[in-house]
Amino acid sequence: MQDNPFSLAGKTILITGASSGIGRATAIACSTMGARIIITGRNAEALAKTRSLLAENDHSVILADLSVDDDLENLVDECPTLNGLVCNAGVGGLIPIQNITKKGIDRISSIDLVVPMLILKSLLRKKKLVKDASVVFTSSAAGVYRVSPGNAIYAAAKCGLDAYMRTAALELGHKGIRVNSVNPGMVNTPFINGDLFSEEQLESERRNYPLGRFAEPEEIAYGIVFLLSDAASFITGTSLKIDGGMTLK
Ligand SMILES: NC(=O)c1ccc[n+]([C@@H]2O[C@H](COP(=O)([O-])OP(=O)(O)OC[C@H]3O[C@@H](n4cnc5c(N)ncnc54)[C@H](OP(=O)(O)O)[C@@H]3O)[C@@H](O)[C@H]2O)c1
Repeated sequence: MQDNPFSLAGKTILITGASSGIGRATAIACSTMGARIIITGRNAEALAKTRSLLAENDHSVILADLSVDDDLENLVDECPTLNGLVCNAGVGGLIPIQNITKKGIDRISSIDLVVPMLILKSLLRKKKLVKDASVVFTSSAAGVYRVSPGNAIYAAAKCGLDAYMRTAALELGHKGIRVNSVNPGMVNTPFINGDLFSEEQLESERRNYPLGRFAEPEEIAYGIVFLLSDAASFITGTSLKIDGGMTLK
């Protein structure tokens, strides 16, 4: 245990989806807290931007399309031994149930559910996680705490991710490895500010938030930093809701 249990000094942490939004904010926050970061994503330019924003340390950038099996295995092979994994890459998509196709299910659930399962499995098999490592999945309040029309695939994937997280916490506890998730409500990132919602939908959704606004990516990152740190050394199998009180309504 460090003098400051909230510090990440001396820890090496892999962060997926680090080219944007919550992943980028998490990489910055972890580096500020002293960690060495491995950032990954598909967009080289956006990853270079994230890299330029990190506090000075021996960080690495690894390009990988996680929907491609070889890229995923390559990422794990290139990683040094890790104290932390933040499995954060994700995609959304609103599809009413009568329009659901197998392709649509695969597109969303492959990144939001299957990839986190496979990354953790591969890191374990290749002995890349130290004893006492901390794993954090970016899940969602959607599905786990609240459902909304059109969001069935994403909601089901994130519920599945939380179930996987709890099972992994149970299986890996004897190794000292902790596994948790963060479950954000709406966060101001390209994820919600692209084509997913109209401005009217966002405005109406905002009214469900007692704090009167959506989260900034840093506000999710700080929860992830806490779960990665020794300050959370007795927390495993937990879904940390970070939703500005949205699910109280
Ligand atoms: N924003 C929200 O309101 C919200 C709420 C709850 C939960 N979440 C969850 O938070 C996580 C991060 O979302 P965000 O809001 O930060 O979204 P974002 O800004 O759109 O970032 C998504 C990240 O996922 C990466 N990614 C997507 N597909 C990938 C693939 N095939 N291979 C590798 N990387 C891939 C993207 O990297 P490249 O572009 O480089 O490929 C990007 O870095 C997701 O799991 C999302 O479900 C978001």
